[in-house]
Amino acid sequence: GEKWVLMKTAQTPTNIAVIKYRGKRDETLILPVNDSISVTLDPAHLCTTTTVAVSPAFQQDRMWLNGKEISLSGGRYQNCLREIRKRAREVEDKEKGIKIEKKDWEKLHLHIASYNNFPTAAGLASSAAGFACLVFALAKLMNVEEDESQLSAIARQGSGSACRSLFGGFVKWIMGKEEDGSDSLAVQLVDEKHWDDLFIVIAVVSSRQKETSSTSGMHESVETSLLLQHRAKEVVPKRTIQMEEAIKGRDFASFAKLTCADSNQFHAVCLDTSPPIFYMNDTSHRIISHVEKWNRSEGSPQVAYTFDAGPNAVLIARNRKAAAQLLQRLLFSFPPKSDTDLDSYIIGDKTILQ
Ligand code: PMV
Repeated sequence: GEKWVLMKTAQTPTNIAVIKYRGKRDETLILPVNDSISVTLDPAHLCTTTTVAVSPAFQQDRMWLNGKEISLSGGRYQNCLREIRKRAREVEDKEKGIKIEKKDWEKLHLHIASYNNFPTAAGLASSAAGFACLVFALAKLMNVEEDESQLSAIARQGSGSACRSLFGGFVKWIMGKEEDGSDSLAVQLVDEKHWDDLFIVIAVVSSRQKETSSTSGMHESVETSLLLQHRAKEVVPKRTIQMEEAIKGRDFASFAKLTCADSNQFHAVCLDTSPPIFYMNDTSHRIISHVEKWNRSEGSPQVAYTFDAGPNAVLIARNRKAAAQLLQRLLFSFPPKSDTDLDSYIIGDKTILQ
């Protein structure tokens, strides 16, 4: 008689930080040394879809990523699963005649299937969407009461940047003060409708490049980079306030200035790490020069650039017109599949949508 399966599906977009997170003060709980702010992307282009299933017939917890089984034994998965299971509540499906009591969740096993709608190897942040989606889908399945911010503190333990993907629009990850990490969570600054004329173009500089883990070298940055100490103490606290103001007031000139400066300092910290870490390549640098020159010639910024742990450029245009001009310029100067080593463009039609 124990043949039933109960399933839930969730979809979560990735997010791009405009004030970056780099450096952990606690590596197990994933507690950062500074606040960060991000914009959540349109799910049509970069998102994860995860289905979670529970059944008395399942012998163990298992997970498949893009159809291939992956191990759940890592601490990051185990922490998320444990924290969600702790909060599981009674679930009843009268139609199917299923009743799962609170205490049953400890014994029941899960099957998890997760898909990215973008190439996982493209070096585009996939762990952010992945862990946020996993935690959100499990919370739905297990009838968890906690709100998005509380869930974000769980997703954070899978991947730091994942905590910011539980909301649309612009999101702030508050670093928190508590040692147990309970106040290190994400809050929504403004929703996806607040600044909807922004337009995002991602220049996939190289999808061939093997994904370098964004975590790799973070420990070394904390240990060896004096610039990181200065950034966390002196720069980011002020910059976060300015960025919040720019976002709330839809002040693109300030937004672009702060976004570009923060990306550049993030990569300067990587370079200031021993041994140094290089995420950008020649093409990335040429794109920066191109955008800087264009913005200067226009008198006021049309486009902001930001780069994560890889060479791909995330370009945020002030509106559709600026995005069209940007694309024209990029396609002329950096045609895909040429010796510029640029693979493709991902174009957001609706930029900030949940
Ligand atoms: O959360 P992680 O370990 O994937 O680190 C993400 C770090 C950056 O994407 C480079 C910056 C950020 O704040 O998202």
